[in-house]
Amino acid sequence: MDPYLLTKFLHILSAALWLAITFALGQRARVLSDTITLPAKAYVLAGPLIGVIVLSSGTWLIEQLGGWAEMPPLLQVGAHLTIVILVIGAGPVWLGWRRLAKARAAGASQDAQRSIARRIGHWTQLAQLLWVVVLACMVFRFA
Ligand code: HEM
Repeated sequence: MDPYLLTKFLHILSAALWLAITFALGQRARVLSDTITLPAKAYVLAGPLIGVIVLSSGTWLIEQLGGWAEMPPLLQVGAHLTIVILVIGAGPVWLGWRRLAKARAAGASQDAQRSIARRIGHWTQLAQLLWVVVLACMVFRFA
């Protein structure tokens, strides 16, 4: 099979997986209570790691298409926004879950735990919104 199409398939599939994990974790942050188990570290890290696959497969596709200079501006915007999503996942979201695990282990109040969870939820929602913007940039290139 054509390696270009295979990579494009991997690109779209990994992007979809990335969104699925972001949604699932965001949902967990929103409904967090004492009875809900915190997500495993690997699960929280899976989002940014899959994001790296999206980024590298996208970079490979760009090389095959003649390099950055040949890319329509919207696709370039989308590629850069992807880095912002990655930073959100590996930064405030990842750190937020760690902070929550520590707070729970230290026996922090429900209110304190909920406020950390709410912040994780807000960052996650921003990542989801950006993901949809990137998807639109990838599809509607206007050039
Ligand atoms: C959340 C992140 C991303 C999503 C959801 C996404 C989604 C998509 C989708 C659905 C397509 C197919 C569009 C079409 O064929 O009409 C596509 C194509 C493409 N993407 Fe992404 N992408 C993302 C990030 C990136 C990044 C970071 C790069 C580059 C570093 C990139 C580079 C490309 C390129 C070059 C194509 C064109 C392939 C072609 O025309 O054959 N993408 N992307």
